[in-house]
Amino acid sequence: MCRMSAPATTGLDRARIAELTEREQRRLNERTPASKAMYERARTSLSGGVASAYQEREPWPIYLSHGKGSRVWDVDGTEMVDFHNAFGSMPQGHAHPAITEAVTKRLELGTHFAAPTEDAVAVAEELKRRWGIPRWRFVNSGSEATMDAIRIARAHTGRETIVKIFGSYHGHHDYVMVSIGVPHHQIGSRENYASIPYGAGIPKAAAELTVPVPFNDAAAMERRIESLIEEGRHPACVIMEPAMMNLGNVLPEPGYLEAVRELTRRLGVLLIFDEVKTGLCIAAGGATERFGVEPDIVTLAKALGGGLSAGAIGGTEEAFEVVERGDVYQVGTFNGNPLAMAAARASLEQVLTPEAYETIEAREEQLLRGCQDVVDRYGLPGYSVGIGAKGSVTFSPERIVDYETFKENQDEELSGLSWLYNMNRGVYMTPGREEEWTLTVAHSPEDCDVFVASFEEMASDLTA
Ligand SMILES: Cc1ncc(COP(=O)(O)O)c(C=O)c1O
Repeated sequence: MCRMSAPATTGLDRARIAELTEREQRRLNERTPASKAMYERARTSLSGGVASAYQEREPWPIYLSHGKGSRVWDVDGTEMVDFHNAFGSMPQGHAHPAITEAVTKRLELGTHFAAPTEDAVAVAEELKRRWGIPRWRFVNSGSEATMDAIRIARAHTGRETIVKIFGSYHGHHDYVMVSIGVPHHQIGSRENYASIPYGAGIPKAAAELTVPVPFNDAAAMERRIESLIEEGRHPACVIMEPAMMNLGNVLPEPGYLEAVRELTRRLGVLLIFDEVKTGLCIAAGGATERFGVEPDIVTLAKALGGGLSAGAIGGTEEAFEVVERGDVYQVGTFNGNPLAMAAARASLEQVLTPEAYETIEAREEQLLRGCQDVVDRYGLPGYSVGIGAKGSVTFSPERIVDYETFKENQDEELSGLSWLYNMNRGVYMTPGREEEWTLTVAHSPEDCDVFVASFEEMASDLTA
């Protein structure tokens, strides 16, 4: 799962990092004239030239034309091995024949009725089997899933305050756009972290209902929940990723999730596992299966839809009483869209099978081992870490266990340079520098070699 850091043997030359960054930036700009032209056209109508701010990049985004299996092509015709995989939405690989066939068949049968179809039932049955969680509903994105999950927890408990992990991303609605991407000096004291709106337009009153605590510290979570109870702000739920995914990869320390499960149960607080990233990527039944800890509510999206927009909320019968009684209006015109459900069903039944996870694990092992070997041989300050289809090289002299250690230690310049090296050597990665890789059933050992070779070239240039 985790390969530990070799102590860095060399201090890195910052001037050399700057020089290589400039060279690689120039190279990327020179090889993407069609993206530049498309950006010039796009920005006059599509705000900022992109459909989501997470697709932005200076000086212009890299526009893609198509993908197949483990590969994507940009509008300049450059073929790259895809390790971005739509922020981890595509462990199936692009244009998988089984999903393409299921979607094509469904297209001809009508794509949307806003009425339930059999595929939605089959998908719910399979999620119930994989997660061991009895009740499910569908939505269209991870944000909708976490928003509805929190509403269900609030209705179930009759309380308003919620607890989240500092630095974790759970989507773009007001409840959870809190205490993410905060500069180190603004984090606040560990016993009483600051609730800071992430960007403009989020009411302070909404942010204050969301109380952040550190990851990997069950005792701190317990103390904070107890102090909230004393203040008359008993929380409805803790929402958390069982393994943090938006800071590279930060895995739970042994016993942490069990302790969180025990204390939330004892203190009468619902536990929501946000498995939008881990679900279907780190095991057939997500983190819930992998770590053997059962939440009260789970949220899925990304990989669920096999490339179409789908999200899900799963919960215990008790938690879902408020939905089934009609106290909570869990609604949405496109919930359970037939096209998305056909894709999800084909993905679950034919693509993300037990054998698929064996293949993914083998590639993951190869990549983690290959990257750690480069780190060790060149004495870089960092380590490779990952689980299932997810992984990263974390550039930090210290092991990252939570947001504070991340902010204290992460080498942003090296992360930025690594992204540029990848993009110029056939490795397509997420523009956000803190993202992890996602492997697919389509990745070959040779695809993983391309990644390691790009990393080694950077390590060699840096230490030459
Ligand atoms: C853990 C987690 N939860 C929720 C979301 C929100 O999902 P979406 O972008 O589909 O709304 C994300 C998106 O990256 C995520 O990483």
